[in-house]
Amino acid sequence: MEVYLDNAATSWPKPEKVYRAVYDFMRKVGVSSGRGAYRRALEADRIIFDVRKYLAKLFNVADAGRIIFTANVTESINLAVKGLIGPGDHVVTTSMEHNAVWRCLKVMESRERIRITAVSCSPEGRLDPGRVVESLRPDTKMIVMTHASNVTGALMPVEIIGAEARRRKICFLVDAAQTAGVYPIDVQSMNVDLLAFTGHKGLLGPQGTGGLYIREGFSPRPLKEGGTGGHSILERMPDDLPDRYEPGTPNVAGLAGLGEAVRFILNEGIDRIRRHEMELKRYTVERLERIPGMTLYGPLEPDRTVGVLSFNLGRYRPEDLAHRLDMEYGIMVRAGLHCAPCAHRTIGTIDRGTVRVGLGYFNTAGEIDYLAKALEELAGK
Ligand code: ALA
Repeated sequence: MEVYLDNAATSWPKPEKVYRAVYDFMRKVGVSSGRGAYRRALEADRIIFDVRKYLAKLFNVADAGRIIFTANVTESINLAVKGLIGPGDHVVTTSMEHNAVWRCLKVMESRERIRITAVSCSPEGRLDPGRVVESLRPDTKMIVMTHASNVTGALMPVEIIGAEARRRKICFLVDAAQTAGVYPIDVQSMNVDLLAFTGHKGLLGPQGTGGLYIREGFSPRPLKEGGTGGHSILERMPDDLPDRYEPGTPNVAGLAGLGEAVRFILNEGIDRIRRHEMELKRYTVERLERIPGMTLYGPLEPDRTVGVLSFNLGRYRPEDLAHRLDMEYGIMVRAGLHCAPCAHRTIGTIDRGTVRVGLGYFNTAGEIDYLAKALEELAGK
């Protein structure tokens, strides 16, 4: 038996139509988009147009052209941070960030002398929005934070912080790596100026797809320059979106898959997906907390978290436990620091890290029973 519980890293399996769309594009279309007027090139254009439209619907973006495609959420965060922050700017973030945010800020600190305030979260990884507000200064240019921790699954109070950022005209960048596709996101009501997301996690699409929503009025410097298929006479990148941020031949095969994935999510309904995740999270906590020697981290209430759960069992090193779960039971989980050392410092697990279960829409209670049984056996060894 094989049980995949690493959906926080990459979701798997994908809806059947996602595999089919990638294959069909490669086999039957297979050409560049934005660079030809023949019928197959126009079909590639249509695929990309459609996926932007579906994502705009999912995130309540009024103008789909303001969603630009990238290779993943890391690239999106790099583009937003490096494109909008300048020498000496002050940036506010949290102590629960993934390295996609943290390393990006640290390099800007050494290169551009930006100043960073990382607001500490509680040892459970909860963020008090009042502390974020207190840390804002007249020279604060940006607030950048995760929507949900990839270590504890804790949802962050982005609605409250977004309203405050908008009131003070501070740019608000949200890392939706762990929420896009599994939690309702409305960039308008949440006052999100830039939403960075990836296609391969909750959105159920292929790896190598991701994007950034850029609200009107924001114009980050492009991260890359190159051909855009149009405006070729210009010696600089064109001003209009999405071309300004999408040089080079895009990953149309991946985007074809992402289009079907987002259509699947829209058809299922984000509320239904969220309900499944909350039920499964509740069940996982219930089953795991009874196991002797088990330590669970972070807030455990399903309505305050996404389907991510970190734990340690007795004296096992997380890597050893994850290895035994795989080798002896066929259970796939992630172990270690999960590219988020700040978060582990916050919850007190920097010395050894944790084992992390990442639940997905296709996981079942039966699979959680199997995981719990395996852990009970390993706890006794
Ligand atoms: N950032 C991804 C994770 O949390 C890869 O596993």
